Amino acid sequence: MPTEDIDRRWWKEAVVYQIYPRSFNDADGDGIGDIPGIVERLDYLDALGVDVVWLCPVYDSPNADNGYDISDYRAIMDEFGTMADWETLLDGLHDRDIKLVMDLVVNHTSDEHEWFVKSRAGEDEYDDYYWWREGRDADAVDWSATEGPEGEAPPNAWKSFFGGPAWAYDDEREAWYLHLFDRKQPDLNWENPDVREEVFEMMEWWFEKGIDGFRMDVINLISKPEGLPNDPDDPFGGAMSQSTNGPRVHEYLSEMNERVLDREYLTVGEMLGPKMPMDHARRYLDPDEDGLSMLFHFEHMLLDRGEDLWKRRDWDLSELKAVFNRWDEGLKEDGWNSLYLNNHDQPRMVSRFGNDGAYRRESAKLLATLLHTLRGTPYIYQGEELGMTNYPFDSLDEFRDVDTLNPLREAVSEGEVESFEAVKEAVRANSRDNARTPMQWSAEEHAGFTDGEPWIGVNPNHDEINVEAERADPESVWHYYRDLISLRDEYDVVVYGDYEPLFPDDGTVWAYTRTLATDAGTERLVVALNFSSSEVAVGLPDEVASDDATLLLGNYDAASEVDAAGDTDPDLDVDTVADELAAGDLRLRPWEARVYHDST
Ligand code: GLC
Repeated sequence: MPTEDIDRRWWKEAVVYQIYPRSFNDADGDGIGDIPGIVERLDYLDALGVDVVWLCPVYDSPNADNGYDISDYRAIMDEFGTMADWETLLDGLHDRDIKLVMDLVVNHTSDEHEWFVKSRAGEDEYDDYYWWREGRDADAVDWSATEGPEGEAPPNAWKSFFGGPAWAYDDEREAWYLHLFDRKQPDLNWENPDVREEVFEMMEWWFEKGIDGFRMDVINLISKPEGLPNDPDDPFGGAMSQSTNGPRVHEYLSEMNERVLDREYLTVGEMLGPKMPMDHARRYLDPDEDGLSMLFHFEHMLLDRGEDLWKRRDWDLSELKAVFNRWDEGLKEDGWNSLYLNNHDQPRMVSRFGNDGAYRRESAKLLATLLHTLRGTPYIYQGEELGMTNYPFDSLDEFRDVDTLNPLREAVSEGEVESFEAVKEAVRANSRDNARTPMQWSAEEHAGFTDGEPWIGVNPNHDEINVEAERADPESVWHYYRDLISLRDEYDVVVYGDYEPLFPDDGTVWAYTRTLATDAGTERLVVALNFSSSEVAVGLPDEVASDDATLLLGNYDAASEVDAAGDTDPDLDVDTVADELAAGDLRLRPWEARVYHDST
């Protein structure tokens, strides 16, 4: 490929860092993270080397879902600070060459948003801003009333993703409104052109303030099909299957693209649903259609999940590979992938896909290696760069999340689950609150997150896992992230190289090459990752073995090799590691990750 044929975009070359403001850093001592707290840590972000910050919602909100229920899109939540604080943050980031991506939550608003207040009052102009419907005859369906007038059941059988029916009865308007999430998050009616206009104007307003893009919350739910049909095969009665990638979603997003988007912005759409058809994905990303830069799918996030929060599913590495392989293949010509294993809605990756015990450090680095050497833009979720782990939740009152508490309380009251104790293991592994415990800055009380009482428990392991300790130790996970980030700056092949998986069915080793052939020559990476706590031998195909490769990065200290039993292995040094690739025979230690490079 001639070098000038590479479709270069800054957001392909970037590494994104996600901040969940409530849990990042508290400057005013009220136990809740805030914007001035982020400003205090700007030099930290700069030292790590990230290029973009994605800031979870900081808008005015009654916090039924920690800011994902917005009551004013153009104001900052009091707990987080003021618009002037936000401007200081934007300037501070831009001064350090870090871009800012805001969260756009427009599938729903808060029920305290002015539009909803007016809509519920039946004000003409706002009458049709939400999904208002009449109830059904309760006798005709299986429904025992918990709300609404006697004899009335909700308009259809859809269930909320946060538990209970997807409809709430409003006494003022005397009708039911749709809420795919909490009852305090009514769904906006995108069929109404005035709603779309309001959203586009609000987006423009933020772009004019100087932001660099949007992460779009559950954006593939904005179009609902005519008649809101039920679906008995969907665990949510149709709410999920009928709302994802709905009939007019591309029309709405193309309109957004035409009106407000630009290839220079980073736009990433969060897309719910079990397995997105690739033709939809391509339309979301086609610059001539919806024009998003990337999307977040959930395919890999669902592998270990049962149907409910309190259920788990066994999974195998080959399934995880198959997901990433399908997405690389599907978007390699047209489109671009996002790469993540963590965010504010997911348990900590090292506890989930790695080994958070004896090999915490190694497996955190291995997972990082994966995310930063596949093709796509890597996303780091706060604390991931320290190898932060899940929280040892022990009782229900330690949780804060609606999506943990609501479904669980409902299941217990309906007798579907005996008690929290009975499902503790699964709930503590699955809960979104694992991601939301405070960032661990130091070994001090409350991990240096706040001088007050934190709004959610701080992981007791902060005495060992924290920023101060990580920065002081050159072999830490944190330093490894820095190395990965700088490799991306140094080697084009890391960003643009073609991905070729090896041994797709192997359940232990994930190995692949990345190759970039340009008129300047061919650059190649060989990546080998051992996803197990035992040593494994890997026989590479002849064409992958290489005489003149060097080890760019590895997660075992090459100078003082330690074998699986913890003994120093004098035979394994940088030369041996290179010799192994030359022979095509790798001996990978537990959770070992290696990245080789050669060029011809
Ligand atoms: C997205 C957000 C999640 C939120 C939900 C409803 O999935 O990431 O935190 O609860 O949308 O807005």
